[in-house]
Amino acid sequence: MALRLGDLAPDFTAETTEGNIRFHEWLGNGWGILFSHPKDYTPVCTTELGAVAKMKSEFEKRNVKVIAVSVDALHDHKVLICDINETQNTTMNFPIIADPKREVAGLYDMIHPNADDTFTVRSVFIIGPDRKIKLTLTYPASTGRNFLELLRVIDSLQLTAKHRVATPANWVDGEDCIISPAVKDEEIPTAFPKGQRRVKPYLRYTPQPNK
Ligand code: BEZ
Repeated sequence: MALRLGDLAPDFTAETTEGNIRFHEWLGNGWGILFSHPKDYTPVCTTELGAVAKMKSEFEKRNVKVIAVSVDALHDHKVLICDINETQNTTMNFPIIADPKREVAGLYDMIHPNADDTFTVRSVFIIGPDRKIKLTLTYPASTGRNFLELLRVIDSLQLTAKHRVATPANWVDGEDCIISPAVKDEEIPTAFPKGQRRVKPYLRYTPQPNK
């Protein structure tokens, strides 16, 4: 059955380009992103893995570990890393899971047979410190992902986990937030000392509380 938001991220052991891991132990107490790509030695995948390597410091700032997976063997991942380093102007700096038996792909429902019955689609799982799934995304093989969007979502998830706000369409870190509908009007002066901009009784903006 497909994994849903709020489900516990399944644990597994796997061989990776940085050694064997037990997933939950590897996650530790922080946030994690597990993302699949269809196949090694393919152009879009090569650009995606290079793009994530270049953004590693941005993930680290947010206490997020990233790990990739595909159904290729460890040897192929190691050769792919040389290609990424050569062509993407970066040095690979996060692990890729070798999943030739499709164990991780199966646990996370990353093979969508009506799209391709052999290779994983481009799945993304953002996992919180409680090891629950906070976001899922599925892209087709032909479309490389926008990893800046994942940073944006992490910023929203981390903000809304601590403050009683939600983030509006196209919000980016630093912009006004929406006061959660669960907050009563009379609570606002104390809970949101930076004030509110009231557009409708259900649409109340406030400056980002943690800035
Ligand atoms: C790619 O990464 O370029 C790719 C992989 C599978 C199908 C199509 C494109």
